Amino acid sequence: MTLTTETITNTIEAHGGKLINREMSDLLKKELLAESKSLSAITLNPWSLSDLELIAIGGFSPLTGFMNEADYTTVVEDLHLSNGLVWSIPITLPVTEDKAKQLEIGTRVALYGEDNHLYGVLELEQKYTYDKEKEAQHVYGTTDVDHPGVKKVYEKGNVYLAGPIYLLDRPKHDDFVDYHLDPAETRQLFNDLNWKTVVGFQTRNPVHRAHEYIQKAALESVDGLLLNPLVGETKSDDIPAAVRMESYEVILKNYYPENKARLVIYPAAMRYAGPREAILHATVRKNYGCTHFIVGRDHAGVGDYYGTYEAQELITKYEAELGIQILKFEHAFYCKTCENMATAKTCPHNASSHLHLSGTKVREKLKNGESLPKAFSRPEVAEVLIKALQEK
Ligand code: ADX
Repeated sequence: MTLTTETITNTIEAHGGKLINREMSDLLKKELLAESKSLSAITLNPWSLSDLELIAIGGFSPLTGFMNEADYTTVVEDLHLSNGLVWSIPITLPVTEDKAKQLEIGTRVALYGEDNHLYGVLELEQKYTYDKEKEAQHVYGTTDVDHPGVKKVYEKGNVYLAGPIYLLDRPKHDDFVDYHLDPAETRQLFNDLNWKTVVGFQTRNPVHRAHEYIQKAALESVDGLLLNPLVGETKSDDIPAAVRMESYEVILKNYYPENKARLVIYPAAMRYAGPREAILHATVRKNYGCTHFIVGRDHAGVGDYYGTYEAQELITKYEAELGIQILKFEHAFYCKTCENMATAKTCPHNASSHLHLSGTKVREKLKNGESLPKAFSRPEVAEVLIKALQEK
């Protein structure tokens, strides 16, 4: 059996020119299911499963599979695929050395989830070992195991499997079915809404007032906002995606014009790779059809590993190659004297007037049982978060 999928072309160009689709037709699915019993198999953890989904639905266009050694090396060392296209984070499939020995190059490998469901298949073209310290240093800028992304690198299997993939079934995302659109569908949605320019917003936190401020400032000069929260694996103290989704629903309903904002999930795992991840986030949102992407303060950062504007500085170097316009925002705060949200660009008052907001502060306040002031969070959002905490 030969496996094929169609490639979708669209008006807003995907990264590399074509929006990839690696989902199998029902007919091929049937054939593959019959064949699958005789294939060697591996179980993907949630992180790899989300990568599989994003490759298959075109979120990671132009990737059609897990990276081979040539692409991996140029991405790690030089932020480009081996064909010269800008790409900042390796998308790889790790397995243990023992497992790798059982898999033969040139065969198909069945890809199961931890729920024992068969999600996809890999045409195994290559197995290679890699240098974990080098990957950590280049991609995350540190080899410190306390960094949650670096910790994952050290925990991974020592061998990467490479080759094209095919998806049989998408992971379900039961909590978010209404918001589970793929890039082809978001592009269609933007067309239906007649949005020619769309700003994408990445977040792993509930939307606080600084988020709202920069989103709306961006919205002043584009047709629509794609609120595109990451709902894949995050570190354990981040607010769970299901709770966040409820908070996004209430803020959109109460504070955004109906025809100007849409909520769609980004089913990826969070790497916390700061500057490099900002580039990945922008690349993916381009694939979802966004023409603009917001990078604010310490984008995709964690702890003190990255400077406040390091992500903006790095992405600026690659902006022309990326082909999506990056909207950079300074650190936003609430100014008690202005009685408004502001940044150092728009507010003349000194620090004593300023209330600084961040996802970390929201989480801290909730944990300590403190209320969330209006200047910090919309009351409807605070209510959702407090209720979720009490239920926990
Ligand atoms: S993350 O996904 O980048 O880790 P987070 O929810 O903290 O998530 O931030 C989402 C976006 O808002 C990022 O672009 C970030 O830089 C920006 N941002 C968050 N807080 C602020 C703030 N106070 N001022 C300006 N930008 C901010």
